Amino acid sequence: MDHFALVNGELHCEAVPLSRIAAEVGTPVYVYSANTLRTQARRFRDGLKDVARVHLAYAIKANPNIAVLKVLASEGYGADVVSGGEMARALAAGMPAKDIVFSGVGKTRAELVKGIEAGIGQFNIELEEEGVVLAELAAARGKTASAVLRVNPDVDAGTHAKISTGKRENKFGVAIDEAAGIFGRLSQLDGLNLRGVAIHIGSQLLNLAPLEAAFERIGAFVAELRAAGHTITHVDLGGGLGVTYKDDDVPPDPADFGAMVARITRDWDVTLMFEPGRVIAGNAGVLLTEVIWVKPGVTNPYVIVDAAMNDLARPALYDAWHDFAAVHPTGQRMVANIAGPVCETGDTFARDREIDVVKSGDLAVFRTAGAYGATMASTYNSRPLVPEVLVDGDRYAVVADRISAETILAAERVPDWL
Ligand code: LLP
Repeated sequence: MDHFALVNGELHCEAVPLSRIAAEVGTPVYVYSANTLRTQARRFRDGLKDVARVHLAYAIKANPNIAVLKVLASEGYGADVVSGGEMARALAAGMPAKDIVFSGVGKTRAELVKGIEAGIGQFNIELEEEGVVLAELAAARGKTASAVLRVNPDVDAGTHAKISTGKRENKFGVAIDEAAGIFGRLSQLDGLNLRGVAIHIGSQLLNLAPLEAAFERIGAFVAELRAAGHTITHVDLGGGLGVTYKDDDVPPDPADFGAMVARITRDWDVTLMFEPGRVIAGNAGVLLTEVIWVKPGVTNPYVIVDAAMNDLARPALYDAWHDFAAVHPTGQRMVANIAGPVCETGDTFARDREIDVVKSGDLAVFRTAGAYGATMASTYNSRPLVPEVLVDGDRYAVVADRISAETILAAERVPDWL
């Protein structure tokens, strides 16, 4: 479900032809649809209509562009942040501090202080020592930090190993069989209002079963904590819902996810918190690129585009699939490899893939690039940092500039002894 479609033979984002953006901003460039963001934000919220108390914290790591955050803030979303930098963005976008959840397995003391001073709504604690330090830092400032304990439920999320987080051997959360003891000790501390628990088992989940298993475990754990006399008012169920990258990915519909959540959590009597990222932003963006060359290969030609692994890292990092589509498709197809200009064989977006016929100078997009796209970009090979554009109806704006190689060079120094 997105707002990228052919109009008169040309791919548009909402009412804006992509060739116009390419001509005016240049390529490569990320293009986001404000209305896809809104649609997805509403679908996720509507899916949870049978849950009494819901707090939505968009996982801004998926796409932290401030204009994107602004769109989601006006949809009533708070933020899930994992660094001082993300916290600053959420606040700059006008998200109230109380609606921000501070997650992350390696929050520094400086970041904890920043969060306490900003009045962040909830800290998701990942280990006992972090809870102790957070309590001390808050108490020393005459404050009480609201927090939940992240529990590792030891569930196999059935996703790519690099984005799986809920197995016992992963670095996240405290082991479920140690969690009650840790909760008991932390709940005694001044400076800390330990009010619940959190889980997040992984990302790009295409199946509800592991989520359901994890939620059941956490429900049983909440009952155990209550039986021990603890007051539990909040449970953070994390993010993780997948999106369609290729036709045979069929992610759970947010409505089905919401129905499952409502069924499992019916008697929990807590505020349920969610941290969706990809499901909100994934299909709201494309990476627009120009074909530089079509180079003959041994079996199939190489389509060399001006976007590379530094702009969209997911194929190189996770062997991820991103659909490739011509901006002016002719209806003819070809089988090709698609690669970028970076000097690594890993800079390959697709191998032996059937795609629209393209030739040098043609425009094309990698689809479903709105989440974990621009945010993971680098300047490897001294390439400029990729810019971002937001489309809203028939308007668009550049919402992140292209940072030139010269600007990046200007931040470097040669010491005077060289
Ligand atoms: N909450 C926590 C604690 C997380 O670690 C994550 C994602 C989320 C929420 C949001 O998950 P989502 O709803 O987006 O699945 N770079 C990888 C994805 C890394 C996800 C990390 N954590 C990729 O490109 O696939």
